[in-house]
Amino acid sequence: MTDVQTRTEAETEHRCTGAGATSTRRCILVGAGAIGATAVLAACGTDGTGTNPNGTDFDADPAPAGSTAAGSGDSGGDSGGGGEVVVAAADVKVGGGVITDKLVVTQPTEGTYKAFSKVCTHQGCEVSEIADGQIICRCHNSFFSVKDGAPTSGPAQQPLAETKVELDGDNIVVAA
Ligand code: FES
Repeated sequence: MTDVQTRTEAETEHRCTGAGATSTRRCILVGAGAIGATAVLAACGTDGTGTNPNGTDFDADPAPAGSTAAGSGDSGGDSGGGGEVVVAAADVKVGGGVITDKLVVTQPTEGTYKAFSKVCTHQGCEVSEIADGQIICRCHNSFFSVKDGAPTSGPAQQPLAETKVELDGDNIVVAA
C-alpha cells in the first residue's frame, strides 16, 4: 500500500490548505474545480442583467414581442401599434430575413413574411445573425427557424415570440 492510499480525507485536505501545504495532484484538482465552479457561476449570474459576447447589455426578463418595449420599426413610424411599418419588403430576403431595432423579420417562402422578437428565449440576449434559414443567438449559440421561430439547436427551448405582420405596398407592417 502506498503512502497516499493510507491518508484520510481530513489529512489530505489539511495538507492542501495548512501551513507547509504540498502541491499534490488532489490539491491542484480541488483548486481547479473551485475556479471552474466560480467561472461557471459568474457566467450564469441571475441578477437580471448581463452582457452578451457582442458587448451589449441584455435583460433576463425581456418584454414580450408586441408589447410597448418590444415594438417595431426601423424604417420610420412609431413602434408598438398595428399597421406600423416594420421594414421595407425589399430588405427581407427569401429564405432569410433582417434584424431591425426590435424585431426579426423573415421571408421563409416568397411572399410570406414573419416577425419575431429579437429577445432570445434562453437568457434574454438579442439574436444577432440570420444565416442558412436560422436566426442565431450567439450568447450561447441557440438557433431558431426563420419559418416559425422554433428552436432548432442550442440551449433555448422555447420559440421566439411572434408578432403578426403583413405586406402593405412596399412595406412590412404590423398586422392590424
Ligand atoms: S441567451 Fe443563451 S442562447 Fe440566447
